[in-house]
Formats: sequence, structure tokens, C-alpha cells
Amino acid sequence: MLSLLSHLSKKTTISIDDLLLVYSEHFFDVLVNSYPELIKQYKDPIDMLASIESHIHVEVQKIYPDAELPTFQIQNKTKNSLTMIYKSSRAMYYFGLGLMNKTFEHFNSSAEIIMEKLKEDGTEVKFIITKN
Ligand code: HEM
Repeated sequence: MLSLLSHLSKKTTISIDDLLLVYSEHFFDVLVNSYPELIKQYKDPIDMLASIESHIHVEVQKIYPDAELPTFQIQNKTKNSLTMIYKSSRAMYYFGLGLMNKTFEHFNSSAEIIMEKLKEDGTEVKFIITKN
């Protein structure tokens, strides 16, 4: 996927980050249609995002043992905010940003999401999420 993205980015002069953002918005709709029972368990976007590591991606790994997933380490969680550290050798943090935005949209909500690169290459990024 990263190799396809890199070629598409060169051909279209659209940045890889912008391509990942658009693709993740489409991918969220695919997830909602393919795994409705997984998403229906959640009533709140913050709770859902805080459960990617402990529940959602755990289930994904059971279905697709070869899936290459990121880790999300929770630093702080309140009713209306969540701070998590994204880690992945693939540096697909814009894919995460798009999925997070769509998660809020799914619950008819919205949030301010700040990304702070902890490593220049984007393999570690802090997400500071505040519900509006
Ligand atoms: C029902 C919900 C979800 C399902 C079924 C799901 C499933 C998946 C799958 C199949 C992949 C690709 C793995 C591979 O190709 O090897 C993936 C990647 C990813 N997922 Fe999820 N996901 C879900 C929700 C989320 C949410 C809400 C986020 C929000 C941050 C997220 C963040 C990511 C990221 C950032 C990647 C890219 C891989 C990387 O960065 O290393 N996922 N997920």
C-alpha cells in the first residue's frame, strides 16, 4: 500500500499525507459496513478511540493474523479528551487522523485533534484529542 501511495503521490503531486487522509475517510465507511457489530458496541467516540489498542485491533488481528497494525498507548483520558501515542514503522499517522475524524462524525460529534511528532520520521506521534 505504501508503495502504491508513493507512486500515486509522484504521479498526481498530491502529498502522501493528503492521500492517506482521503483514503482513511473512505476506509472508515468500509469498516462501518464490514464490521458493524464491532462499532455498535460503542456509544461514544472517545471510548471507541481509547479501545483501538485493547479491543478493536485485537479483534482485527484475530481475523487477519498477518495484519500490520500500529500501537496506541493511552497517556490520559477524560470524558471529553484523550491523549495517545501512535507508534508504527509505517508512519501512517494521517491515516489515523482521518479515521479519528470520521469516528467523531459517526457519533454526530466533532473534535480538535492536534498531532505532535515525537520522531521526525513520523513513526511516533502524540495525538491530543479534545471533543468540541
Ligand atoms: C472497526 C474498526 C476498525 C477496524 C476493523 C480496523 C482494521 C484495520 C485494518 C484491517 C488495518 C490494516 C492492517 C494491514 O493491512 O495489515 C488497519 C490499520 C490501521 N488502523 Fe485500524 N481498524 C479500525 C479502527 C481504527 C480506528 C478508529 C483508528 C483510529 C486511529 C485506526 C487506526 C489505524 C491505523 C493508523 C492503521 C494503519 C497501520 C499503521 O499505521 O501501521 N483503526 N486497521
